[in-house]
Amino acid sequence: MHVETHAGAHVRSRSAHHRLPAARGWARVAATLALTGMLLASFVASPAANAKTPQPKPMLDASAVAVPDRYAADAAQQIFAAGGNAVDAAVAVSFTLAVTYPDAGNIGGGGFMTVYMDGKPYFLDYREKAPQSATRDMYLDDKGNVIKGMSLVGHRAVAVPGTVEGMWEAQKRFGKLKWKQVLAPAIKYATDGFTVQPWLQQRREFASKNFGGKTNFDAYFSNLKAGAMFRQPELAQTLTRIASDGGREFYEGQTADLIAQQMYGHGLITKTDLLQYKAVWREPVTASWNGYQIVTAPPPSSGGVGLIQLLKMKADLKPQFDGVALNSEPYIHLIAQMEDRVFADRQQYLGDPDSYRVPVDKLIDDAYLAKRAEGITPDEVPGAAPVKPGLGDSMPEKAQTTHFSVVDKWGNAVSNTYTLNGPFGSGVVVDGGGFVLNDEMDDFEAKAGVQNQFGVTSGDVNTIAPGRRPLSSMTPTILLKDGKVSLVIGTPGGSRIFTSIFQVMTNLYDFNMPPADALSAMRFHHQLLPQKTIYWEPYRPIDGELADQLKARGYTLEGQLFNGDVQMIRIDGTAPQPAADPRGVGVGRVIQ
Ligand code: DON
Repeated sequence: MHVETHAGAHVRSRSAHHRLPAARGWARVAATLALTGMLLASFVASPAANAKTPQPKPMLDASAVAVPDRYAADAAQQIFAAGGNAVDAAVAVSFTLAVTYPDAGNIGGGGFMTVYMDGKPYFLDYREKAPQSATRDMYLDDKGNVIKGMSLVGHRAVAVPGTVEGMWEAQKRFGKLKWKQVLAPAIKYATDGFTVQPWLQQRREFASKNFGGKTNFDAYFSNLKAGAMFRQPELAQTLTRIASDGGREFYEGQTADLIAQQMYGHGLITKTDLLQYKAVWREPVTASWNGYQIVTAPPPSSGGVGLIQLLKMKADLKPQFDGVALNSEPYIHLIAQMEDRVFADRQQYLGDPDSYRVPVDKLIDDAYLAKRAEGITPDEVPGAAPVKPGLGDSMPEKAQTTHFSVVDKWGNAVSNTYTLNGPFGSGVVVDGGGFVLNDEMDDFEAKAGVQNQFGVTSGDVNTIAPGRRPLSSMTPTILLKDGKVSLVIGTPGGSRIFTSIFQVMTNLYDFNMPPADALSAMRFHHQLLPQKTIYWEPYRPIDGELADQLKARGYTLEGQLFNGDVQMIRIDGTAPQPAADPRGVGVGRVIQ
């Protein structure tokens, strides 16, 4: 039995899609998505019970998921019915989305998984890495200028994928079911096909235009047409090999051969790069806030640090926020000043922790943030004084996305964000393998001071180097209360990821909104560059009096923004409350 909420049910028709001519890929796609609904797929649960070990007594009334599409919810339900736990379900969801949500779900990308298992927090970094032959200036022409699009489209944009290794590691360490069982739903969707919804056709059409015939994308995906069954026989074979031979097949077996062949003469990834790829268990970033323990993403994500900085500074600024209405002009102005500081620190200090000693503790230190918040006032003139990184100028020592949240009835949780970066990544499909490769190399800084597709610069700490992981903003987060999971949350959105999560958490905890309202409230975004710019979202535009007030304050308003597709589960007592962002087509489902 299950109880379900659908994001599509909340989609508002007030989209400003027609006002977004210059929006970049992911922004346009999300705006389009907000206009479309999604048909329901049928689900047949598999017979229960072949878990490896007996389960402890349940702590919650049910398990639950908040996932970006219906097929993934069905896969999770199948896994829970078979006795799987949150990690089994998460791995099944991840492989399923690689089939049914191919613009972001992936085996050719990478990501982060935050886990709470048997009362302990864990973090798995399966971020992509630069190939061994990557060089700092690989995207510059003879004159030292960035070659447009090179880090985004085609073979040279691709970093060594981490997703399969990540799922393999997570399932091996924490899963209860057999590896083959968790891949079964994905293999079935790839073999038998699934019904394409209009939003997926729109995303495919947009991506195809973007790739401009420079890749083999159309040969694989031109049949993604609304209403049609879409089958992926090569992907089914790849998944079947991975299911039979284990996750390392992707890095050492026939799939590795296919990737290396695809790259040969065009891209940089070799069999050695694949062989050397390893996911890394890292200490999650943790902090106390508002009576909760936050467990979130460490570097190479900037998201965990950014989220904690925002939450703590807002708490420090309580007197200034007193009586200030949510999303009013003074509210946006105060938050924008906090965001200037967070993005200034991000640019200076955040990078791959295997290359740099990132000063995480200092950056989330209470006294540091209290001091940092001191300069924030309601009367500040936007852009009047340049915002600098807060720990001084010293360098630290020598370092299309989707999210899903899962809890099981035993009180374990997975918060997972993974990505191809742009919609359908680089547009390069592995011939014979049937899957798209990422364009994560764009998350490095190609040249000092040049913004990436999300408009962020990231300084010397995020230059390209062999084997380095590019700086990310992905922020899969779990909140604990008295050692028990209270919230599982995350979203796609590039540099908007942690500002979106911050806003939803603020709505939940500072404004006591129910989950659905916390998600549907307006969200805005501001970062260091471009200065004085507030980004609004098509789902709930900033217009009318609020727009006039912000302009009068000195802000420029930009409406090119995709402001996330948050998938979260809040636990109230023993009842999980999953909620999917109305901006997308996700599904929140309680599973008995
Ligand atoms: O790792 C990052 O921060 C980006 N590659 C994430 C990209 C993203 O969220 C695109 N989503 N819509």
